[in-house]
Formats: sequence, structure tokens, C-alpha cells
Amino acid sequence: MKQIGGEIEQQALDFDVYFTDTGRSSLRLLLRSQKINHVQIPQFLCPIIIDILVQEGVKYTFYSLDKNLQIEESSLNFKSDALYIINYFGVRHKQISKKYLESKIVIEDSVFNIEIENSQNAEKWFGYNSFRKVSNCVEGSIIKTNLDINQTLIENKFADFIENRYMAKNYKYRFIKSRGVEENVYLNLANKSEKILDSQNLIYSISQKGLYFINQLYSKSEFEKCCKLDNYIILEKKLIPILNSSKDANFFVFKDSNPQGLKSYLRKFNIFLPGFWPNSYEIENNFYDELVAIPIDSRYSVEDMNFILDKIIDFRNYE
Ligand SMILES: Cc1ncc(COP(=O)(O)O)c(C=O)c1O
Repeated sequence: MKQIGGEIEQQALDFDVYFTDTGRSSLRLLLRSQKINHVQIPQFLCPIIIDILVQEGVKYTFYSLDKNLQIEESSLNFKSDALYIINYFGVRHKQISKKYLESKIVIEDSVFNIEIENSQNAEKWFGYNSFRKVSNCVEGSIIKTNLDINQTLIENKFADFIENRYMAKNYKYRFIKSRGVEENVYLNLANKSEKILDSQNLIYSISQKGLYFINQLYSKSEFEKCCKLDNYIILEKKLIPILNSSKDANFFVFKDSNPQGLKSYLRKFNIFLPGFWPNSYEIENNFYDELVAIPIDSRYSVEDMNFILDKIIDFRNYE
């Protein structure tokens, strides 16, 4: 008979959990805890990942991606200690052949996800996210892993960049809502905080305020998912997404023959699309030049999506 009442039970975790201030700090924590000499990374990635590998003295080589941002398995090698997989724009990478994962550490970059999962069922797994990439959070990264991590490397204090960043976010809020401040004030502070973060070498904890915002984020995550899906479905009617699945996507990503022209045309209508990513290491492939990403989070309605679509279609017709 089912037991009713009493304290709520809890299943033990089969992974460990850690929190740091940012995605890059989480990556550093892994590289400083485990001996990794050589990691294979995708040809399309945020340059900060390479910066961190270089700073931590880890050798890297590239593997190739197909047109849907999925790993070309023939370009994987068996020599590296670790394989770096990105769940691009929140969409989990499809299962890759077990033989490429054996005895390797799988670093699963889920910076676009709120929930971290061991999507490859990797034996040696390190998954992490970055809350600031997918929400109004300024700081915070959750790590799930079954590897030994030296948590004394996480400073028991908060990163220097956050103070300016919290102020910048609030200025942006005031700029967007009431135009009460100049946009430049926000932009200057945001740049200043990013510079402080770029020069940071230590791994920090999340502040109390940061934890509060993460808590807020989880409490509305179902609502957020529904909005994203509604927005995605609208865009999918007229544009061809580059990624196969839609369930976890945070951005709608598609290819365009003239993305710079399209983006500057859209700016005339107050639509400012993000850039993913600067090709600072001059890696040879077209993803850096061809992809366009539309944010689909709950700030935007189905009407907003239709407005963006109309403008994209206008641009393509008149081009
Ligand atoms: C794919 C990817 N991984 C890792 C990072 C690092 O995250 P953070 O900026 O929180 O350090 C970024 C940052 O843009 C990213 O885009």
C-alpha cells in the first residue's frame, strides 16, 4: 500500500553539483581540477572558450560540423583526452557513436540551457551552463559532473564585474521602459564590466542577489518554454531553422546569404539581432558569416515575431 504523509523523500544524486560566477569560471574549474592535455573542439564556437584553453595551457584541435551544427564523426580522433560538445542555442546535440566517447572526458557546453543533462550518457561527464546567456541574470553557472572537482578553487567571494553589470542592466531597463536614461550610459557600463570579466583569472561564487534571480528564473521556466515554443513555431512557418529540434531552443537560427545587410536593414525598425560569434581566431568555416539568430524568449510575443518576419521578407524581396 502506498504510504501517504510525512517528510518528502529524496532520491540521491548520481552526480555532483557546483556553482560558479560564469561559464568560463566553470570551464576553468574543470581544467584546474583534472589533467586534460588535449581537447577536441568544434569549428564554430565562442572565442572565449579558446581563450580559456590557451590561458590554462590546454592543447586544442578542431572537429568539423555538418550544416545542421552536428558533429562530423569522421573528423573526431581518438588521441584527445576530452571532447567539447556545444548544445547550440539550447538544442541538445544528437547522440554520437559510443566509440568516440570511450575513456574521454565529455565537456558538455550547455550555456544556453537552464537544465543540464548528460545528453551523451558519457562515463566521464562535465556539463555546465551560464545563466547570463539565457536570462536577465548577471552571473551564475551551474555544473553537474561525475568527475573529481577541487572545489577549494572556488573563491568564497563574488566577482568584481558584477557590480557594474547589475547597474548596467538596470540602466537598460530604464532606457527600454521609460527612456529615462541615455543608451550610452548602459552600453559604457556593460562594456566596462565585460572588460573586468575578461581580465579575471580566479573562479568566484554567485552572490546572494544572483541566487535570487536564478530562483526567479526557475519559477517561471515553464511559462518561458511555452513562449519560446510559440515564437519558434511562427518563425518556422517562413524561415528554415538550422537546428533540427525546437523544444529547447532559445534562439531561432537560420542561414542568410547577406546576414550583415539583413541585420542593418532590421536595425532601421529597432530590431537588434545578436552576433554569434566573432571569429577572433579566423577559423575557416561559414557559420560565423552566415547565421542569423532571433531571440524568442518571453519578452517577445507572436506579434513581434510576425513583425520581424515581415521585415525579413521585405528585405529579401527588395534585395
Ligand atoms: C558557447 C559558449 N560557451 C561558454 C561561454 C562562456 O560563458 P560566460 O560568458 O558566462 O563565461 C560562452 C559565452 O558567450 C558561450 O557562448
